[in-house]
Amino acid sequence: MNVLRLSVLVVIAAFWIAVPAMISAQSPQAPKAADTETIARGEAWFYQRCSLCHLGRIVKDEKFKPMGPSLSGLFKDASPTREADVREMIQTGTLSLSKPLRMPGFRYGLDSKQLDELIAYLKTL
Ligand code: HEC
Repeated sequence: MNVLRLSVLVVIAAFWIAVPAMISAQSPQAPKAADTETIARGEAWFYQRCSLCHLGRIVKDEKFKPMGPSLSGLFKDASPTREADVREMIQTGTLSLSKPLRMPGFRYGLDSKQLDELIAYLKTL
């Protein structure tokens, strides 16, 4: 009797362990789209570091046009190398001694997690 009980318990325990493991092994590991929290953090970096030059301002004349281009649709129909190029460009900027002051680099101003979040946000524009 006791042996029977024990073996029933063992079978139940085996299912308890095996079934969730089988279910989790089956679920596909599809690449996750950035979650809303990540995008929200990226948006905060954008307003803090980028909006100064990349957002239009409400002005009554043309004297104070945004210094940088609009980033709307930056990743629309983008080539596969676009993301790497944009990352590189944000990190190095476009300052050079031979050109007038353009865009500063953010290599030391954004760590890699912040840059990921920023890119996730830029993809929503
Ligand atoms: C001081 C002003 C300034 C700031 C701050 C700035 N940018 Fe720029 N950005 C520019 C200018 C100007 C250009 C145009 C490139 C040039 O003329 O050198 C540019 C170009 C770009 C481009 C290329 C656009 C294209 O169509 O290829 C990207 C992407 C970009 N900026 C992203 C950013 C991001 C992200 C930030 C914030 C981390 C940022 N910029 C902060 C001035 C700025």
